[in-house]
Amino acid sequence: MIDPATVERIKNTADIYEVVSDYVQLIRRGANYVGLCPFHNERTPSFSVNRQKNFCYCFSCKKGGSPVNFIMEKEGLSYPEALRHLARRYGIEVVETRLTDEQRAQRDNREAMYLANEWAMQKMEEDLTATDEGRDIGLQYFTQRGVTDEARKAFRLGYALDKSDALTEAAVRKGFDIALFKKLGLVGTSQHGRDYDRFRGRVIFPIHNRIGKVVAFGGRDLKGGMAKYINSPESDIYRKSHELYGIYQARAAIESENRCFLVEGYMDVIGMWQSGMKNVVASSGTALTEGQIELIKRITPNITLIYDGDQAGIKASLRGMDMLLAAGMNVKLLLLPDGDDPDSFARKHTPEEFREYVAAHETDIISFKARVMLGEGQADPQKRIETINSVAYSIAHIPDDVSRDVYVQVCSKILDIPEQTIANAVARARIEVEKKKEPNNGDRFRH
Ligand code: GTP
Ligand code: MN
Repeated sequence: MIDPATVERIKNTADIYEVVSDYVQLIRRGANYVGLCPFHNERTPSFSVNRQKNFCYCFSCKKGGSPVNFIMEKEGLSYPEALRHLARRYGIEVVETRLTDEQRAQRDNREAMYLANEWAMQKMEEDLTATDEGRDIGLQYFTQRGVTDEARKAFRLGYALDKSDALTEAAVRKGFDIALFKKLGLVGTSQHGRDYDRFRGRVIFPIHNRIGKVVAFGGRDLKGGMAKYINSPESDIYRKSHELYGIYQARAAIESENRCFLVEGYMDVIGMWQSGMKNVVASSGTALTEGQIELIKRITPNITLIYDGDQAGIKASLRGMDMLLAAGMNVKLLLLPDGDDPDSFARKHTPEEFREYVAAHETDIISFKARVMLGEGQADPQKRIETINSVAYSIAHIPDDVSRDVYVQVCSKILDIPEQTIANAVARARIEVEKKKEPNNGDRFRH
């Protein structure tokens, strides 16, 4: 068997344009490429290649698919054979695995954890509407915050009863192994060895992975306690840096809109979703990671960061931008009026107003950075030099040559500096950026 990580690597590396180009002469047409279909005889091209979706399709004979599908069809290979073929094409070393007993046990353990989480989600979802406490406290809270029934159901929102053993006891009764719930962080153990529910008296936001499995929960305090949110710890099924809240609910919309909005919190996702902008995910209050970017990039290269327009929001938006640019993403920024987050903004405006605001205020992040830094100290030469270098450093992260040139031009106008000066600064910065990227340097995106 081919190791799953290798399969992932092959799929992430194989580029449909390159793979098809080995067989078909492609020419650009709009956002796509077209050529004569390699699967049937034709004189006018009906074979289309969408590089961004990494997908090909013949409008005439309906054949096509991913790079792997294409090779299977074209070379008459089985799925694993096609993977090996592509691995050779891209010089990827194929790591083989045979599941050991331990690996099999691990897989089964993960399945059991998914099941336990799914059950817990359903219980807390039911407790929200089917118990007096759930209705009076949890549902009342959601209602007061303007969450619609539709959103509540789509996001599977719930309520954890304010009792030390509501979930624990129900799980035992159901015949679950409590050890699972401890691994999932749903149940804790006191110093005296007593098991207790970790989520109590909180509204619950289940966190689904890309394919809809519940991997974790966020619980919001309703009583003004110490921690506003508590979250499930990392586990065998939850790597925080590889998940985004809302990705499952947003997936189809991200694809059809060809854009992803990134916000900070659970309620922001829900607020935007209710305003009809369903292509939205949250990083849950932490800095964006490479793994999270990869999750978005598999669906779209276009991302719009949405932040509060205060100083903290501006800082936060600039912090993650180089990493996004390095991943080849097109990054836009939308600042909301000072003091508003997407959730509060959504509640103050109609969906139409929100959409108009987005369209009118979205700006590309590099121009934004140039303007912000310029505003910080136009007259001071030292500050000006710093601005040019810092903007050049960001531009240097963009992998595409043409895009870099365009930004050099744009920033030359904004900063009122000759293009060549910025181009030189970018060229110098690229050396540094390339150095950071070198293999064996594990943390290539951190700085
Ligand atoms: P609301 O007050 O319910 O609107 O939440 P919010 O999403 O506006 O909260 P905030 O802007 O303060 O934080 C943004 C995100 O950071 C939240 O949605 C959480 O994911 C995360 N967060 C906030 N507070 C905490 C906390 O105390 N602990 C943890 N682990 N995460 C938090
Ligand atoms: Mn909020």
